[in-house]
Amino acid sequence: MAERTPVIAGNWKMHRDHLEAIQLVQKLAYHLEAADYEGQEVVVCPSFVCLRSIQTLIQSDRLPLALGAQNCHPEDEGAFTGEVSPPMLQRLDVTYVIAGHSERRALFGESDEIVNAKVAAILRHGMRPILCVGETKEEREAGTAVDVVVSQLRGSLAGIDIALDNAEEVVVAYEPVWAIGTGLTATPEDAQEMCAAVRTELASLYDQAISDRIRVQYGGSVKPGNVKTLMGQPDIDGALVGGASLSSEDFALIVGHRRD
Ligand code: 13P
Repeated sequence: MAERTPVIAGNWKMHRDHLEAIQLVQKLAYHLEAADYEGQEVVVCPSFVCLRSIQTLIQSDRLPLALGAQNCHPEDEGAFTGEVSPPMLQRLDVTYVIAGHSERRALFGESDEIVNAKVAAILRHGMRPILCVGETKEEREAGTAVDVVVSQLRGSLAGIDIALDNAEEVVVAYEPVWAIGTGLTATPEDAQEMCAAVRTELASLYDQAISDRIRVQYGGSVKPGNVKTLMGQPDIDGALVGGASLSSEDFALIVGHRRD
């Protein structure tokens, strides 16, 4: 099985202005040790208006952090008032872009088709998508969770070419909707089962070697107290952290979960 480099990303959602964002990253950098960055990637995903400030901070302080955006429009440019394009993000040294977060699917009507166009655009501009998939509470209770996630994966990756040498650039985040911001977390066993199902589907869409290289994150109430067991699962290669990433102490504990 391929060795995968875990990726831990903080999704700040619509929190923190650019001044608060600078402070948060400075504090995070203060709490992290050099060893915390070794063998894993650490990503912060602030709002669009903070990207330039955080890009500058990362550069000037030479921080080993990657910058992520929370969304993008699939087109390169055009009459799309209020939207931000992939080339604009790429110019800001953005490495990761979240696509199809459940909040965008539920609140802003993003279909698999739209998410698919975004994933294609992100890859076309040399950035890495964090493709979010996940079932609702009702879907889990109805026993259709795996079907829902597999169908989101198929729809969002339709026609997307992933080769062995760029498979590491694709990240899938399994985020059960019922676990987001609720304090409820999937058990490590349930999270593992779904991430393994994601990998099986990726193997059938591409092939086993490619699937073995794609990173699969878990997201949904990841905290300092549960990160270790989640990350210890064989098919979980990282975490997409919401609420806890807004605290520099908590996010540093999550990133530093390998310390003892
Ligand atoms: P919470 O960690 O706040 O549950 O949010 C998860 C999430 O949606 C990250 O994208």
